Amino acid sequence: MPISGLYGPDDFANRPQGQTTAAPRSVPAGSRPALPMPSLEWTPEVERATAPHYERVKHVIPPIEWPLMAPTIKAINELKRARGAVILAHNYQAPEIFHCVADIGGDSLQLAVEATRVKADIIVQCGVHFMAETSKLLNPDKTVLIPDTRAGCSLAASITGADVRLLRENFPGVPVVAYVNTSAEVKAEVDICCTSSNAVQVVESLGAPSVIFLPDRYLATYVASKTDVKIIAWKGACEVHERFTGAELRSYREADPSVQIIAHPECPPDVLAEADFTGSTAHMINWVRERRPRRLVMITECSMADNVRAELPDVEMLRPCNICPHMKRITLANILESLLTLREEVTIDPALAQRARRSVERMINLKN
Ligand code: 13P
Ligand code: SF4
Repeated sequence: MPISGLYGPDDFANRPQGQTTAAPRSVPAGSRPALPMPSLEWTPEVERATAPHYERVKHVIPPIEWPLMAPTIKAINELKRARGAVILAHNYQAPEIFHCVADIGGDSLQLAVEATRVKADIIVQCGVHFMAETSKLLNPDKTVLIPDTRAGCSLAASITGADVRLLRENFPGVPVVAYVNTSAEVKAEVDICCTSSNAVQVVESLGAPSVIFLPDRYLATYVASKTDVKIIAWKGACEVHERFTGAELRSYREADPSVQIIAHPECPPDVLAEADFTGSTAHMINWVRERRPRRLVMITECSMADNVRAELPDVEMLRPCNICPHMKRITLANILESLLTLREEVTIDPALAQRARRSVERMINLKN
């Protein structure tokens, strides 16, 4: 069914003006000293040491570019061991990060679950700030680093904790589900979190006739189409996925009727209506692994197609390229810098973290 209501910052007369989500906080480097910058020269030794990494990305990174990346990749992998650190990377990270320095890669749900299992003392989050916050919520005693604190998200920036309180005042008793693409401050105000992998399951788990689902209006519309629960939505959108159009998808199909098109549920409904499959980034990857289509279009962030193509070169990709500027703030250079200096460290006020952690853990503990 269609969503039952759509609200945004301008819909509450009593909303204080000029509110924005709390700025990401970071603290000075801790007691461990900064390490000296290693040599980043392209040498025969670097070529040898990184040959297995190049093997993984040779279909998406031209040989001419490898000497520019390989010395930093080698330095990161050595430093990771020296520091006792683990690197978590989202599926939207560039292939040289995702396939060459990450220890664990995945979608938002997989990264949150993996964060609960990490043994290392230091986590370097290659993704956006809300992902690093989620890792910190689940690992309050570990050092969680994000190589660039400016790696935000248009969804996380669309809503504040105060907005959630206003929604609750206007819909008393209605439970609130927050997409993980929100700040810790918002997570602290809601009943449970969800990701695009489990959104319908989370909404239905509440056993309520109506649910407030925030902040992604399009994911909310997708969930509403899959459940009888009435969905009250927030007006947020992902700046990457909202740019795709149904007309664009129809033009791919007209050019080659045999092409398969798969899309992320953060896309508008006219886009999803044209897709052969809709799912989270992990669900999309599994779909491609199982089906092995001859020609494929992935309607999501650019690097996903590169990461899948690196693994499955026989699948021919048409690559419409909508970049997430926030994900692309993370680079090999600033991952190295982060490991050398142990910055920027993500911190969350402990009282707020305790409330936000409940919402994330409630999601993770849901049985499949
Ligand atoms: P998933 O990887 O959970 O599908 O999320 C996509 C996304 O946009 C993350 O920022
Ligand atoms: Fe946020 Fe969209 Fe970028 Fe994901 S792709 S981090 S939802 S802006």
